[in-house]
Amino acid sequence: RLTEDPQRPSYHVTPPANWLNDPNGLIHWNGRYHLFYQYNPAGPFHNTIHWGHAVSDDLVHWEDRPVALTPSPDGPDRDGCWSGCAVDNDGVPTVLYTGGRDKRQLPCIATAADDDLTAWNKDPDNPIIEELPTEPEVLRTEDWEGEFRDHCVWREDGTWYQLIGAGMEGGGGAALLYESSDLRDWEYQGPILAGDRDTAGTVWECPELLDFGDRQLLHVSNYEDVVYFLGTYDDGEFDVDRRDKLDHGDFYAPQSMWTDDGRILTWGWLPEARDVSGQWDAGWSGAMSLPRELSLADDGGLCQRPASELTELRGDNTSYDVVRLGPGDTEQLPVESRSFEFRATVRLEDAEAVELSVLESPDGEERTPIRYSYESEIAVDRSESSTDPQATGDVQSMRVQPYDAPLSLRVFVDGSVVEVFANERHCLTSRVYPTREDATGISLSADGGRATIASLDVWELDGVW
Ligand code: FRU
Repeated sequence: RLTEDPQRPSYHVTPPANWLNDPNGLIHWNGRYHLFYQYNPAGPFHNTIHWGHAVSDDLVHWEDRPVALTPSPDGPDRDGCWSGCAVDNDGVPTVLYTGGRDKRQLPCIATAADDDLTAWNKDPDNPIIEELPTEPEVLRTEDWEGEFRDHCVWREDGTWYQLIGAGMEGGGGAALLYESSDLRDWEYQGPILAGDRDTAGTVWECPELLDFGDRQLLHVSNYEDVVYFLGTYDDGEFDVDRRDKLDHGDFYAPQSMWTDDGRILTWGWLPEARDVSGQWDAGWSGAMSLPRELSLADDGGLCQRPASELTELRGDNTSYDVVRLGPGDTEQLPVESRSFEFRATVRLEDAEAVELSVLESPDGEERTPIRYSYESEIAVDRSESSTDPQATGDVQSMRVQPYDAPLSLRVFVDGSVVEVFANERHCLTSRVYPTREDATGISLSADGGRATIASLDVWELDGVW
């Protein structure tokens, strides 16, 4: 496991080295949590994808396991074992994933060969779906005979259901529904939802349907963003009443797991924001987000908060009851860290904005300000986050719902990851690449007026491997 790299996250899941993309096959099995992921053991680039594997007893500390799925030279997954999910089929852990071969994307199935989920038996009858749906007609491109991949599987009243992501010929993305009694023989039912390409992208990857009791959530990844739809799903149709982005930054292709105590925890892939040569030089690429709990608020909106287990990581603490800032004031916090959690409530009073600056060098040459402004916007400004020309630096922002109450802010910083949670609802995850050894400062400042920052805590967080 590569470790000596200050830009490498220490408490986020990363590949031991080389490439990671989507989380796959999340399952709690035999007392342990399993997180599989899209993995290229051959280098920090996307090619001939395997399933990497990490396990945890507490959802916080992780252990690397050997590669779980490898493309079979003569199999339908010869070019890659792409994204998929895991289910418990009456005591048999089973994964459904997409095999890539030539120009085809082929649904495949495998069952666990042991209770540690280290080895998997691929079904000799793979692929389990060969015909592409014609209603709607699946999108063909120069590269693909059909944009048709990724799997979300659940069981209801003894019947298995599956969503597969797709693009539609002449249209946008779609989440296609299948039904089966045995996980192998699937009957096509039609799209549960299809998007218009102008607002929701041409292809929907990694669709996932989550059940909150009387309301449901469908999220899809459309090459740019993770879009979620909230509403009611019934009998093959999704009735949408709200939609938004799950995250407003570098966060993609998430997948979720139900905990035994009934929570939905979601992990997403945090792609790199630096160029290919930067990834090559580092020898690793990609991190997993922290697990976040999704739930519904009383008003029917979506809540997102860091999984409660993460408090386990808290080490040294710096705490203030209140910090009052006048116009132009800056308060340097007495902490130097690249791996910490910041938590506070922020009231703008008559200030235009409050800035929390992280990963800041003493002379300010490198710094990443997180700016909360009276327009109810949070922006992560990466323009000065790095002096490395390979690392991009635009501003990422999101609207936060205006509340009379102060903003509740939780920020997790970890090497090159900045995860912002606002009001337990809105998330913005950014990748930044400070190069200076002394880019470890944290400061607060107010612009154009007074601001009050209360219940402020900074915890240094431990590594998890
Ligand atoms: C999403 C995705 C999936 C696919 C996998 C391949 O990032 O493109 O659609 O299964 O990655 O690695």
